[in-house]
Amino acid sequence: MLSAPGCTTRFAISIFIACCACLFIVIFIFSESFSKASWDYAQKAQDKIGSAINKHASPTEVYNCADPYRRPGYLYIDPDDYKNTRWIPYTQEFLDGDVPSYAEYPAPGGMDVFFNRTEVEPAFLQSTSNPQQWMQLALAEDKRRGNAVQVEMKKQKAAHFAEMKDDGGLGWLWGRRVIILGDSVDRFMIQFLCEEFGRGMRQPKPHTTATCAIPTLNLTLIHWHFPGSFTYKPEWWWMEDMEEVAFEERWESMWAPLLETTGRGPTGQPDLLLWQNGLWDQRALWEAAEAHFGEEDPMGERKRQLVWQEIRFVAARTKKMVRRLSERFPDVPTMFRAMTVHRESDATDASIYELDRLSRAVAEQADHEVFEWGRIITSLSMLYKDQTHPGKGPGSWLWSNMILEYLARSAGYGDSARSPYFDGWDACHSYLAGWGGR
Ligand SMILES: *[C@@H]1O[C@H](CO)[C@@H](O)[C@H](O)[C@H]1NC(C)=O
Ligand SMILES: *[C@@H]1O[C@H](CO)[C@@H](O)[C@H](O)[C@H]1NC(C)=O
Repeated sequence: MLSAPGCTTRFAISIFIACCACLFIVIFIFSESFSKASWDYAQKAQDKIGSAINKHASPTEVYNCADPYRRPGYLYIDPDDYKNTRWIPYTQEFLDGDVPSYAEYPAPGGMDVFFNRTEVEPAFLQSTSNPQQWMQLALAEDKRRGNAVQVEMKKQKAAHFAEMKDDGGLGWLWGRRVIILGDSVDRFMIQFLCEEFGRGMRQPKPHTTATCAIPTLNLTLIHWHFPGSFTYKPEWWWMEDMEEVAFEERWESMWAPLLETTGRGPTGQPDLLLWQNGLWDQRALWEAAEAHFGEEDPMGERKRQLVWQEIRFVAARTKKMVRRLSERFPDVPTMFRAMTVHRESDATDASIYELDRLSRAVAEQADHEVFEWGRIITSLSMLYKDQTHPGKGPGSWLWSNMILEYLARSAGYGDSARSPYFDGWDACHSYLAGWGGR
């Protein structure tokens, strides 16, 4: 039998539990509506930032860190003067621009719609979101400095121009050194840049190194010829006059000496490093398969995907090379240069795209950024001078402007309108280290 006090206690306990339950429900409802409100608030704030820049604004854009060359855009080529070539990233102003009358539906008055070659509207051509026209600036300043000294061009040295080093707003460029680890595509681009300044590129021996020095700006570009991932020179190698193939051997015998004599800028390191290794690996993998299986075998066919062992091989080798760059050049702005395909490009170039994606993954892991030039000119075969090499003209002009743009970022050119983009490499690097989304 239950005693009265026991009954009271139970009653009290049940009341207490009921109260707790009620309180819990009230708190739950409250916190739900509160967190919903704060979520809505966060969303609204987000939308506000987003609509000011982009509906899907990424931190890159919020912090003014977008790399214009990595934004989707249009390559403007002036048919009358390739020196006006420029990349026009598609901005919000462009996307939200007026609908042109010829795009209206239905067509006004049953008009026939066809398009003429007209100039890009100045608002888009001169937009501050477009990358700088560095080559025009640098060439004008080079000419001015050249005329200011009474020294024959061939005898000019950087010392002749040291007093003018800050003129024309180009002080950040003085003494800069760029090293490009790549193939003949890169070497031709260096040569073409050099020729714009009326200078010649020097090459001690084909497929070794090359150097372009512009004394008026004390700017030097160095090419390290990188003949692919192979670890030795095989019997079936197609080039006679190449002794070392493995990058480990080339590094010691030809690259390191040039680094010591010419490769170090104001920081004691190169100021910008680019690497890439598409066409030589593609060729070597073709040649190896042809030599061992013959052209009748599916492996000897050039129109094929890379096989998994090839992927694993190149991944391991590229990774080793990239790790060495990071070890030897810590803190040097380093970029993977997106690969170029052939002028006539079909399934034979599937392997280039595969090597490109592989390199992007390696670059991302190494915290390197992507130099998208190769993708920007993909399929613009009219810019090529032969089956393999983009020629001098719009393609090389774009390349040169890109090199100077990244050098300006590396050197901390400090343009306040684009701040913090040009406040040194690190200012925006964390937003740009991804593989590029291509
Ligand atoms: C192209 O030019 C022709 C001739 O001037 C003109 O009739 C036509 O409307 C133009 N097309 C557009 C889209 O402006
Ligand atoms: C040119 O640049 C190099 C590398 O930055 C530097 O060592 C050298 O002193 C510069 N030359 C002159 C004349 O300032």
